[in-house]
Amino acid sequence: MRSSLAPILLIAACSFDVPSAVDAGAAGAADASGASGAPDAYTGPITYYRHVKPILDAKCLQCHIDSGIAPFGLGSADEAVQFAGMVKDAVVSREMPPWLAVKDCDDYIGDRSLSDEQIATLAAWADGGRAVGDPTDVGTPLPHDQPRLTRVDREFGMPIAYTPTQEPDDYRCFLIPWEETEARYVTGFRAVPGNPQVVHHVIAFLATPDQDLAEYEALDAAEEGPGYTCFGGTGGSARQWIGSWAPGSMGTDMPPGIGIEVPVGSLVILQVHYNTLVAGAMPDRTMVQVKLDDTVDKVATVQPWTNPQWVFNADMPIAAGDADATHSWDFDPTGFISGGHPMRLYGAGLHMHQLGQRASFRIDRADGTSDCLLAIDDWDFHWQGSYGFRESKVLAPGDSLHMECHWDNSQANQPWVDGVQLPPRDVNWGEGTGDEMCLAGFIWTRE
Ligand code: HEC
Repeated sequence: MRSSLAPILLIAACSFDVPSAVDAGAAGAADASGASGAPDAYTGPITYYRHVKPILDAKCLQCHIDSGIAPFGLGSADEAVQFAGMVKDAVVSREMPPWLAVKDCDDYIGDRSLSDEQIATLAAWADGGRAVGDPTDVGTPLPHDQPRLTRVDREFGMPIAYTPTQEPDDYRCFLIPWEETEARYVTGFRAVPGNPQVVHHVIAFLATPDQDLAEYEALDAAEEGPGYTCFGGTGGSARQWIGSWAPGSMGTDMPPGIGIEVPVGSLVILQVHYNTLVAGAMPDRTMVQVKLDDTVDKVATVQPWTNPQWVFNADMPIAAGDADATHSWDFDPTGFISGGHPMRLYGAGLHMHQLGQRASFRIDRADGTSDCLLAIDDWDFHWQGSYGFRESKVLAPGDSLHMECHWDNSQANQPWVDGVQLPPRDVNWGEGTGDEMCLAGFIWTRE
């Protein structure tokens, strides 16, 4: 095993109008127990059509459709009946649907987590008769606010197909010249994996013409086949992102009025993380779609955020055997990145590697209050994503960002290699899979 994970963080937010419909799943559960209090309270059994389908449709089908990224579909009554037992186990353990943010931190766009009532409904249905019910007696659909890319102005991507050569994880960077002839703003992003069976994550980095673009050409030329191997970042100094993609994403618009400036002559460096564990090494040609605008009200930046001491002085020790190694960092970003101006934050992500256990990110305000941005209690390396705030937040000079990571470096939490669990070892900041990171990211504009 080699390689590391690049920050699979952001491209945050977008603000769709959320229909204020009733939570049909919750109402369904209440119905079934006769506790809804509604005059026409339903007293029959929990059925697929009335209670289960609305939950599966809204919370699972982004991935559990035929040809989706999940191993089986949940789009029909037959499938729901067949997999009901597994579904129960996966939702009760909160393994599914994948959604790492804890509930009491903040409200996010496209929250696909289940309420306790919805979990109870799925469990009761699996344990009960798994009645299908009447196809004409369908429960009210749950409101959907999964982010989407609403307009495609340009599509570009890998020039030719690539078949992963590193197994099971291949991180590959592909160079794509930005062909616009006038400065434009990216106001929405989506990656379209050529082969969803092997593409795990995509990040589009931006290298602007004031940087040394030749260094990427050299990296590309030095390796056979399209692109070059790139762990963690791009192999060069480019850090800015245009967007990222993780399984289940339909892309996203940026919040209204903001966009990422892409100068003429820029280079897009598309980092694709391939995992060949399930499907084997299959060819892929991933494409990117963007929404472009000539002007925006405010220029947005996707900002990786971490303690420079950890990165440059390897000052993030995680001792072998320590079951709760912790590092945290507090810093006021306004002086550093916004020239002393207040900043508006639209979304956030957190990133650790395999030993990560939990992490959090918040604003500590000068007046002593604090604002939780993102908290993850049960870290899962494979499901890191970005969380767009339903309400953006202002950070003023004097406020501070607090980030905190916890790792379990005990024997019980070590990776398995070829059937053998490795002994714990001292770990520090680094880009490899065996190294660790503690990174927050956020999307911001000047207020
Ligand atoms: C963002 C994509 C996504 C969503 C949304 C999602 N799943 Fe999954 N699901 C997966 C993938 C991918 C797997 C394969 C295992 C893995 O990678 O974790 C999986 C595996 C499963 C499994 C098998 C678990 C096991 O132990 O192997 C069950 C059951 C399941 N999902 C149920 C659900 C249910 C029920 C929902 C909705 C409430 C849901 N999933 C939502 C992607 C998703």
